[in-house]
Amino acid sequence: MKTTARSPIGVFDSGVGGLTVLQALTALLPREDFIYVGDTARVPYGTKSAESVRRFSLEIARFLKGRGVKMLVVACNTASALALEDLRKAMPFPVLGVIEPGAHAALAASAGGRVGVIGTEATVRSGAYEKALHRLSPGLRVISRACPLFVPLVEEGWVDHPVARAVARIYLNPLLKRKVDTLVLGCTHYPLLKPALKKIVGRVKLIDSAEETAKDVLGRLTKDGRLAQGRPSRTAFYSSDDPGKFSRLGRLFLGRPLSSVRRLHLNGVD
Ligand code: DGL
Repeated sequence: MKTTARSPIGVFDSGVGGLTVLQALTALLPREDFIYVGDTARVPYGTKSAESVRRFSLEIARFLKGRGVKMLVVACNTASALALEDLRKAMPFPVLGVIEPGAHAALAASAGGRVGVIGTEATVRSGAYEKALHRLSPGLRVISRACPLFVPLVEEGWVDHPVARAVARIYLNPLLKRKVDTLVLGCTHYPLLKPALKKIVGRVKLIDSAEETAKDVLGRLTKDGRLAQGRPSRTAFYSSDDPGKFSRLGRLFLGRPLSSVRRLHLNGVD
């Protein structure tokens, strides 16, 4: 399908977490239209095999291609870590992820060259952040840790809660002992834990890749002469499970109510 500057940008995540990225995108790109897909029927991706995450990601990208998107933003860290190359090979439009922008921001923020990375099991296992950081600065010290309990805590709304703080202390103490000066929040859900995390990490800088990703998208659209002009942005929402639940939880991530959410039927889900 032929796309134009007015064509929408596709954004997808395993669920509602990627709405933190969508929020940054709509703030920086107020004239762009977006189609957001949350694969709530198959969330979490972070505990799944690379093969499954690639298959799910390609399936969603094919749906978005059919809707005529001009670009795809992989808002999910796990899918960015495991499926970006496959998506780039398979899709006829630019595919941008959240790992490279997060790595750039961490490098810019780190004064002492000691960077911590937290994410899902699959993201940490993939080593994608280490590779991206070492490509930018081979001498950087990178210490990673999977924090699998953070996603369910955020989904439960326990973001600045004593349980969240207790769990965070257990996860982060080993990184703090190794004197990281910067911490990459390498998962869509973690920015919501910022108030709790700040209390634990003190002066360590917290990196949220959402804003950097939005800047990357702006840069790419400007370079390609594909920025939308004219009327304000519109977003269509799809979820692969109950749209009502997606709307309720999504509000927490997007910071505002969602316009109507449609049900997306994906292969192997129904
Ligand atoms: N969206 C995922 C990520 O950023 C977190 C939730 C999941 O495991 O699917 O890695």
